[in-house]
Amino acid sequence: MNYSGCQGCNHCKSAEECRVDDDLSGLLEDIRKADAVVFGSPIYFNLFSGQFKLMQDRFYSFIDSGFRSRLAPGKKVVIVTSQGHPDISAFEKAADDFAEVLRFLGFEVVDIIRMGGGGPPDAVLDRRDLLDQARSVGSSL
Ligand SMILES: Cc1cc2nc3c(=O)[nH]c(=O)nc-3n(C[C@H](O)[C@H](O)[C@H](O)COP(=O)(O)O)c2cc1C
Repeated sequence: MNYSGCQGCNHCKSAEECRVDDDLSGLLEDIRKADAVVFGSPIYFNLFSGQFKLMQDRFYSFIDSGFRSRLAPGKKVVIVTSQGHPDISAFEKAADDFAEVLRFLGFEVVDIIRMGGGGPPDAVLDRRDLLDQARSVGSSL
């Protein structure tokens, strides 16, 4: 996907939507309509990735001029994150901070799935506990 971050133009404070027209436009519309969303990011230099943050900043269009969320409240959300460091407490703030943003927007954060010791794309196949957690939370949505 090719997309840019929020331009800070404030168009979305008088109109209902983001003026930037790119590959994120449809995704933002999908989030508006969704009953449940799963967000995921690896940890890059202690934080969620830059690509993820560009998307997150575009959520500005979900907020009206009075700083209230335009989203229907109660959308369920699961956050999935992976890091190389084996101790998940090392960077847990990244997902916790994003969860706070989502709560502000009216989401119900159902679970945060955190993988430590990540690396190769298939590393999670050795983590039966995380696969079970994902299956269990997925079926609860
Ligand atoms: C640019 C970059 C920065 C990274 N920074 C960190 C970091 O600060 N802490 C950490 O534990 N792992 C870090 N990693 C490792 C990734 O978080 C780890 O490999 C993760 O499991 C990748 O998830 P993915 O397979 O979903 O892409 C970094 C990897 C890259 C490519």
